[in-house]
Amino acid sequence: MQRHLLTLAQLTQDELLELLETSLEYKKLRARGLRRTGELNGKSVAMIFEKPSTRTRASFTVAVYEMGGLPVAYSREELQIGRGEPPRDTARVLSRYHDAIAARVFKHESLEELASFSSIPVINLLSDKDHPLQALADYMTILEKFGHISGIKISFIGDGRDNVLFSLAIAGLKLGAEVRVASPPQYFPDINELKRLAGEAYGSIKLYINPFEAVEGVDVIYTDVFVSMGQEHERDSRIKVFLPQYKVSRELIKAAGRPVLFMHCLPAHRGEEVDDEVLEGKESVVFEQAENRLHTAKAVLKFFVAER
Ligand code: CP
Ligand code: NVA
Repeated sequence: MQRHLLTLAQLTQDELLELLETSLEYKKLRARGLRRTGELNGKSVAMIFEKPSTRTRASFTVAVYEMGGLPVAYSREELQIGRGEPPRDTARVLSRYHDAIAARVFKHESLEELASFSSIPVINLLSDKDHPLQALADYMTILEKFGHISGIKISFIGDGRDNVLFSLAIAGLKLGAEVRVASPPQYFPDINELKRLAGEAYGSIKLYINPFEAVEGVDVIYTDVFVSMGQEHERDSRIKVFLPQYKVSRELIKAAGRPVLFMHCLPAHRGEEVDDEVLEGKESVVFEQAENRLHTAKAVLKFFVAER
């Protein structure tokens, strides 16, 4: 059966660890100057973007290219999708030309429809619900920094319904991390759904209202924007709820009471979810996370596209 990557819930713990190990291998190879690895020779990958992207688009494009394939990016406006052609027709057409479809969409259901009708792998480049490729780069970064993931305590501050948190939580449950979420109660994630989706839960997830309690003794403090793409019309009400309490400030970093890493998927809104001095500070590993998007993209392409 054709495998797709719409969410990390679809992978076992062993598969996740294999992807992370492969990512580390690709990083080592590239550090030694070995870029042209050739696994996608003769293949092409369609990338559909309904929303803007810097890291995902650049890293995925370079990953396909360095692996010998042809990356083709289509914005929503350039496709007939922008004029109402349904994902199901787009999937059946692109399946006849390309070897994989990667897509960043407004609605997660669009990805599910693409996958149902595609005869080639469909890879989620971010939806309103889930951002699996980001979590892979996040856990690769954690693995590099700590040497292990199991038992690592991660505190996510801000929007508990955020797509980046969704993936971070599911992978964290599978990989044995302790994920704490500090959020206003009306933005709490559905932890029963997260646990059900993760299936095998070696880690844990816990909810907090007070961010200062949530960061006590943690290894990692993570945040993302308060207003995600597609939520711009909710901006005023969201900012009112999240600020000033849920901003990651130097005081919050200190409240961990121990050395801590600061993580953010980027792009960041300085002065909103994080202060500039934290983003630019010594705890911040945000650009290493961004770099790791390239190596993890290669691992995903190897696993889902080259070896299929
Ligand atoms: N982190 C992330 O997905 O960034 P982009 O939106 O720039 O792709
Ligand atoms: N939560 C953000 C992530 C961007 C990478 C958004 O969806 O806009």
